[in-house]
Amino acid sequence: MATSGNGNNHLGVNLSFTKFLFVTVLSDDGATHTRVKDAGGMLARGFFNDFDSDGTREPQPLETIQFLIGDPERESTEGLLSARYVAHVSAKYRPRLQEIEEELKRRVGQHATVTALDGAVQVPRYTSAEMHAFAYKHAVSRTSGRAMRNAIIIPIRKTPEWWKLDPLERHSFFYPHTSKTTGTSIPGHARAAEAGVPTIFRRLYHNPDGYEREDEYDFVTYFECTDENLPVFDQVHAALRDQSQNPEWRYVAEGPEWRGTRVLRW
Ligand code: HEM
Repeated sequence: MATSGNGNNHLGVNLSFTKFLFVTVLSDDGATHTRVKDAGGMLARGFFNDFDSDGTREPQPLETIQFLIGDPERESTEGLLSARYVAHVSAKYRPRLQEIEEELKRRVGQHATVTALDGAVQVPRYTSAEMHAFAYKHAVSRTSGRAMRNAIIIPIRKTPEWWKLDPLERHSFFYPHTSKTTGTSIPGHARAAEAGVPTIFRRLYHNPDGYEREDEYDFVTYFECTDENLPVFDQVHAALRDQSQNPEWRYVAEGPEWRGTRVLRW
């Protein structure tokens, strides 16, 4: 796949970049946790901390950081789900995020492993003016981590069959439509997820280097919500997985779902 230095490719223009840094401690003792927390403190320098973002900030600052702490009850020994700590960093300039990853790795040394998931913001692909009015105009703004304390990260891949579909045909999966085979009404992705519009803050990140890359995800999806709205998230997620409401999910392979809490610092 042809890529330029800043990660652009023929599939979509990367407008800005993001990196999720998953940190797994190798021994669960106080000294190790202190080392990771201190490393996080160093990372925060020079970044705008998104913990207290109130949705009114305009324009968006160029470089932001959000610290997350995993729910110990969901922790497992499996890949990303073993990470107690996550730092979500965003910047216009991709190499800046690479520097941060290397700095974090250097600071935690042999006490923890750091796994990165990279993403890029792109112009929405399936969003008409009407879809914008439906899914974005009244979307809940990002608010402080004190209120919207829950964070959910789900990396996603689409199957080879999805990428073989006619690109115009892919649009229909996001809209209400009639099934060609059964003639029934299908809500599609956006309508199935409607309850999430006013309740779940969401961000979609594309793989900055393109899709269908070996051992990589095509997208990283990221969500925030209040405790009260966590059941809404679960309901929306279940609706998206229900292929009678959202046939798009036939082509989706979900990665591990990491959940945690937004914090001012680790
Ligand atoms: C909370 C309510 C949600 C709404 C209103 C919503 C709406 C949308 C819309 C309008 C798009 C098209 C973006 C474009 O034009 O490029 C989209 C894409 C996408 N959404 Fe959602 N979504 C929601 C929740 C979710 C959830 C919970 C997941 C994952 C578990 C998810 C995964 C995705 C993915 C992976 C794409 C990109 C698909 C592609 O480009 O092939 N969404 N969503």
